[in-house]
Amino acid sequence: MRQKIVAGNWKMNKSLNEAMALTKEIQDTADLEKTTRIILCPPALYLQSMQEQLGITSLIKVGAQNCSSHESGAYTGEISAAMLQSLHTNYVILGHSERRQFFNEQSDELAKKVDQVLKHDMVPIFCCGEMLDVRERGAHEGLIRKQTQESLFHLSGETIGKIVIAYEPVWAIGTGKTATSEQAQTMHAVIRQHLEAKYGKSVSDQIPILYGGSVKPENAKEIFSCPDVDGGLIGGASLKAQDFLAIVNAA
Ligand code: PGA
Repeated sequence: MRQKIVAGNWKMNKSLNEAMALTKEIQDTADLEKTTRIILCPPALYLQSMQEQLGITSLIKVGAQNCSSHESGAYTGEISAAMLQSLHTNYVILGHSERRQFFNEQSDELAKKVDQVLKHDMVPIFCCGEMLDVRERGAHEGLIRKQTQESLFHLSGETIGKIVIAYEPVWAIGTGKTATSEQAQTMHAVIRQHLEAKYGKSVSDQIPILYGGSVKPENAKEIFSCPDVDGGLIGGASLKAQDFLAIVNAA
């Protein structure tokens, strides 16, 4: 049985006070008896305060939204994986489509970020996904194979078994337009088969693949019921405790 995961990607939203209030509301209201793993990914400068409030042993984990591909040094404005680790960060989102689109992140740099995160004992949540024109050309399956291969397939079978993948069709992010459950299942199966071809079934079967793109309380159950969808990476709907927890409860 793969771990079910629901991660909230808060992106560049909320003041510190608002972030702490949202964390507290989620902490107070979440049903922690459920086995679904909850991950909150705030702007990096709130990680320490949130981790202190939650407590290291909390079942609610925290994640960053990005990190540097470099270990340390003269990279003004960057945050290293070692720094995130020192704040007891558990997960790091990598390769989100907004980072690829607005910050020109490429596969080779992402491969280095994946290595940095793993080196510092955190779990990468590696995002892949196609733009609308790629889907319309019918090139989406090939692109997803390419994105995963170029940034992940240098890892050993043992190491890749530690990561989480998120499939996020770019045309569904923040647009209110969700992939149908058939579209999501097809793409998740493509990713899993691709992993299986390289690493074998026992490795591919253990890697959680999350769906992201306009997941809401109303559509979460249907998407999460697909056999290869192991939870979600949630943007807009993760900014309200009630909506986010309704999605967690649907997983
Ligand atoms: P959304 O964002 O849920 O607002 O579509 C998802 C994401 O970008 O991870």
